[in-house]
Amino acid sequence: MKEAIERILAELESLQARSRKEVEDARVRFLGKKGEITQLFEEFRGCAPDLKREFGQKLNDLKKAATAKIEELKDAAEAQQEASAPKQDLSMPGDAFELGSRHPVSIVRQEIVDIFRKFGYDVAEGPEIEDDWHVFEALNFPPNHPARDMQDTFFVSTGHKDPLLLRTHTSSVQVRMMESQPLPIRVICPGRVFRNEAISARAHCIFHQVEGLYIDKGVTFADLKQAILLFAREMFGPDTQIRMRPSYFPFTEPSSEVDVSCNICHGKGCNICKGTGWLEILGCGMVDPNVLRASGIDPDVYSGFAFGMGVERIAMLKWQVNDLRHYFENDMRFLKEFNTATEV
Ligand code: PHE
Repeated sequence: MKEAIERILAELESLQARSRKEVEDARVRFLGKKGEITQLFEEFRGCAPDLKREFGQKLNDLKKAATAKIEELKDAAEAQQEASAPKQDLSMPGDAFELGSRHPVSIVRQEIVDIFRKFGYDVAEGPEIEDDWHVFEALNFPPNHPARDMQDTFFVSTGHKDPLLLRTHTSSVQVRMMESQPLPIRVICPGRVFRNEAISARAHCIFHQVEGLYIDKGVTFADLKQAILLFAREMFGPDTQIRMRPSYFPFTEPSSEVDVSCNICHGKGCNICKGTGWLEILGCGMVDPNVLRASGIDPDVYSGFAFGMGVERIAMLKWQVNDLRHYFENDMRFLKEFNTATEV
């Protein structure tokens, strides 16, 4: 046993291994399950007690020396491998990040909001899941108005006394403003709205609105007309004309729909304006006294106007997009067309 220990010690002394594989081979040869040192331990077990006393320590030292040597060779082999690995080329160009762009609906919504901010309007947002009061009742919808019908409104919970629903317009936020804010109020309410409609080139069940409300003493229809005209010129260009057609909304009286002169053919008639020279952009009117009263505002002292527009519709007119569905399909080729440098 003595010779074996000395022979192995000498071998370890001069042991060389360059690669990780050679180191591993050496480890198996000495310390593996059937390795030479492991075998010596086997033999040692059967030795007489006096021999055990003589060789126990030596054998342990041998194992320690072998383990240390193998570790040392392993470190050297790893360092060697690292040094000989191909150097990284730090001057190589990196992977380019593809920059995203704002969605065209967001761009137009921001543009509308910015215009009204310039006119002194605040911006307010409210919940998309609403109750009947804020979407219909407080806005003077008669109890059997078709907009309350299942055909138009998505109900979140039915069978309740007070069902919750997805708001069909952001006028609900205006009600919340009238209920909670001191007068005068000058506010716009951008947001997502929901209607149970078949999806087509002109309609979608989810779209975006910006609605506006101005309430003060002595607000007149002339103020409304001026606000809409200024907005239309900011949005569609300084030569834009508007025309108002009488209309009906439960919450405004009188009510009107507003057209702008077609910014493509400038009134001559084209296929975008269907030959009329005019494009419909929004609904508006003087806030109905019943609506003011429902929110605790005295209609004998205060008056106001309201208006509401679909953001997708304005975006379609602005960019002459002929199918509303493009705005929801997330086709990158379409979305990238709006990636102008100024919109980052
Ligand atoms: N709330 C109406 C709609 O969603 C738009 C509107 C707002 C009309 C304010 C008049 C006044 O269609």
